[in-house]
Amino acid sequence: MDWGMKNRLSRIIKPETGKTVMLAVDHGYFLGPTSGLEKPSKTVEPLLPYADSLMLTRGVLRTSVNANVNVPIVLRVSGGNSIVGEDLSNEAITVSIKDAIRLNAAAVAVSIYVGSKYEHQTLKNLADLIDQAEDYGIPVLAVTAVGKEMARDARYLSLACRIAAELGAHFVKTYYCEDFKAVVESCPVPVVIAGGKKVSEMDALKLADNAISEGAVGVDMGRNIFQSTNPVGMIKAVRAIVHDNVPAAKAYDIFKSSKNKK
Ligand code: 5RP
Repeated sequence: MDWGMKNRLSRIIKPETGKTVMLAVDHGYFLGPTSGLEKPSKTVEPLLPYADSLMLTRGVLRTSVNANVNVPIVLRVSGGNSIVGEDLSNEAITVSIKDAIRLNAAAVAVSIYVGSKYEHQTLKNLADLIDQAEDYGIPVLAVTAVGKEMARDARYLSLACRIAAELGAHFVKTYYCEDFKAVVESCPVPVVIAGGKKVSEMDALKLADNAISEGAVGVDMGRNIFQSTNPVGMIKAVRAIVHDNVPAAKAYDIFKSSKNKK
């Protein structure tokens, strides 16, 4: 791995702990104005001091994030689908590598839909993006999107993560599942988890705690942070789990004791 690639990765996965808290706010690329993200700038600003990176689209980056912030950007570069469209898996690459560089992306992110109608197309998107990104030392995050019909179990997620790594992804984002350890152990690159749909704060913290205990290098969490009654409290609690090995129950105390500035 060349110096630039290593340096960009180390801006995201912090060398001090080997872990990362990524804040995902890219939902609008197929969901439109997602609850909690109606005004992205308002949502993101108070959370920035606690995020090791920000995952978002170029549209929201340009319009809603001040260019003087010092947070690494993980730029979503796949899309072209919508929640009301024909098939969510029908994605293309939507941002050129030149524009990703212009936007000073620390990494680029692309979804793959293993087992879906457009499986081949999305895997080709990943492989092509890696070829382009490698030229400039930019890491690629593969997101293992799960179609409605797909089981989120260790067998399926191991398959999807491993294929992403085999194609050359530098890190992988997937879902937590039963026997998650098996997913991590069969994936030769770092794995982060998505939070998924909003659940109770305690359940989301347990999810993060379990994932870290079973080998994830961090979270790339969205709705369970920005849809919380206290987003700042929630991201602080998640950070304590990820970077300080604080158990979920103690992290919940951090959430509760943090003043709500929503
Ligand atoms: C969609 C994504 C989202 O960023 C991600 O899943 C959002 O995180 P969360 O599930 O925690 O809201 O990559 O494919």
